[in-house]
Amino acid sequence: MDPDIMKTLWILFVLLNLDKGYCTKTHDQVLSITPKTQEQVDIVKNVSTQFETVLWQPVSPHFIKEENQVHLFVPANSSTSVKGLLEKNTITYEVLLTKADELMAMQTRDNSTDPRSSSSFYERYHSLEDIYDWINRTIQDSPNTANLILIGSSYEKRPLYALKLSLNNRPNKKAMWIDCGIHAREWIAPAFCLWFVRHALLHYGKNQDITNILDNMDVYILPVMNPDGYLYTWTTDRMWRKNRSISNSSICVGADLNRNFDANWCTVGASHDPCSEIYCGEFPESEPESQAVADFLRSHKDSVQLYFSIHSYSQMLLFPYSCTLDEAENHKDLLEMAKEAVEKIQRYYRNNYKYGAGARTIYLAPGGSDDWAYNLGIKYSFTFELQDRGQYGFLLPPFRISKACNEALTAVKSIALRVIEKTQVARSSV
Ligand code: ARG
Ligand code: ZN
Repeated sequence: MDPDIMKTLWILFVLLNLDKGYCTKTHDQVLSITPKTQEQVDIVKNVSTQFETVLWQPVSPHFIKEENQVHLFVPANSSTSVKGLLEKNTITYEVLLTKADELMAMQTRDNSTDPRSSSSFYERYHSLEDIYDWINRTIQDSPNTANLILIGSSYEKRPLYALKLSLNNRPNKKAMWIDCGIHAREWIAPAFCLWFVRHALLHYGKNQDITNILDNMDVYILPVMNPDGYLYTWTTDRMWRKNRSISNSSICVGADLNRNFDANWCTVGASHDPCSEIYCGEFPESEPESQAVADFLRSHKDSVQLYFSIHSYSQMLLFPYSCTLDEAENHKDLLEMAKEAVEKIQRYYRNNYKYGAGARTIYLAPGGSDDWAYNLGIKYSFTFELQDRGQYGFLLPPFRISKACNEALTAVKSIALRVIEKTQVARSSV
């Protein structure tokens, strides 16, 4: 062969391989897997526990069922073996997120570059330090409206700060509570708490709904209920869910704070195993974070009428009970309020949310804050699962924050207004 052609072919060969090497760089991915038989269910359960993967949906392998989509985060280094195993067993899967690592990098970019006053501050995710900073500046900028309340501290002794928004001192004033970020990896939740506060402070006196709400209710907001876990998702493991408490019986760290409340604590739907994502803790309120929230609500139960806990993802508006299949005593009211809120989201934002009692809408999940608050006497109690449905899951990109928060805000306001209406009617009829 002509040496020139040989040379050209050789260069081509090298280039092609270089290119291939570049294209096949493995990434962290999220797979959507649908097991079709019991045998496949067992294999998927094994994959999720044997390999270095993180189950996104359902929350624990125990809930994996035939024909139900499983969302599994697969780090680059286990990608080949996981896919190989699925393919070998002819289990159908599709790649939901091809480059999860790049999305993760996107989420932490520029998180502290903008001044707080700029709207884009609220369209980014923020580190724990920045959120503490934001809390401080918020109370300094609105000293007559926003007050700081220290409700306790986390396992690693970080402060649990709540904000109290109060526009007047009417006697017998009622209140609502919102907590965000009980689960560490659900970053859109703290983002929502910040979004809500900004909306309230900026639009009081201008937007009729928020004005009406704040005229009638104080609002307590806990932006990060699980600061240790949240920090850990920024520094070490983006997929962390639980808090960071150390167990004396196991090397596994953390309890699921939303299984640690005293509502049919640790019955079916939670686990006594410290290594489980739904570990209920040693005893009800064993964790300082859940205890702090429970203490605060106990001491304010005469004023707090409405409770919200903000989570992600899956787009659902849930209400009690999650800890039993029994119907709540005011089920009809709750259903009607949730329906109205979800219809507004549909109308204004063209997005679908499911709604209903927790246990019947997703699964039995005892020890949740919403059920506990409900049993304490806060008869309007909701858990909100924000965007999305799994396209991005916990890695919802910053450009989606605005719509996700606005639709949730619409629903929260709709429900708060109904609660005000109902309780005013009740008061004026005595
Ligand atoms: N995804 C949430 C969780 O698993 C749902 C919470 C619903 N309420 C409840 N009390 N479990 O914690
Ligand atoms: Zn959650």
